[in-house]
Amino acid sequence: MAVAPGRFITFEGIDGAGKSSHIEPLADWIRAQGHEVLLTREPGGTPLAENLRELVLHRRMDALTETLLVFAARRDHLQQLILPALARGATVLCDRFTDATYAYQGGGRGFDTAVLAQLEAWVQQGRQPDLTLWFDLPAPLAAQRRAAARAPDRFESQDLEFFARVRTAYKSRAQMSPGRFETIDALGDREQVWSRVQTRVAARGWY
Ligand code: TYD
Repeated sequence: MAVAPGRFITFEGIDGAGKSSHIEPLADWIRAQGHEVLLTREPGGTPLAENLRELVLHRRMDALTETLLVFAARRDHLQQLILPALARGATVLCDRFTDATYAYQGGGRGFDTAVLAQLEAWVQQGRQPDLTLWFDLPAPLAAQRRAAARAPDRFESQDLEFFARVRTAYKSRAQMSPGRFETIDALGDREQVWSRVQTRVAARGWY
């Protein structure tokens, strides 16, 4: 019997947009329909990549170093965890992926996107998510949500202009790949946003 293709679904949005609270409910919903689900995140997902995450989130470094570490983590994550899971037909739900690099390193830090595209091509060799759920919220509202939540890391402590640039970069990524992206309006309470997520995923007809 042929193995069903694994689906690779990524979650994106500026810090405070609320994406993370919908990953587990989506995993439960897909599992309830009899599918294997792997939940993971970037930077991270493997022991090596989690070590790199620690450095990227908490040590000072320039934008090129940051970008190289994020892509090094991604390479290990893809090879060790994501590609094997997709090959056995699992659904992979990943909290952030390469769109975050375009948004944070490209938009936020102003790093050269041509270099990002070259690294992306080397690391991913054409592999892209099948679906990207982009949780969109204006930067000032996301900042209010963050303030209530936790101690900031190197990215979360950036100013409103930084997050406005990150949001703009996400928007242009979404416009470049309209078939892959679903823009989720992240305004409203958790249940309202969750029902938007469920509707958009169900519309793909995969589960
Ligand atoms: P985040 O999902 O916000 O983790 P948590 O909710 O546990 O704090 O991701 C961590 C940070 O990493 C986030 O601020 C964005 C940043 N990041 C990049 O700058 N580039 C990347 O390529 C990725 C994947 C994340």
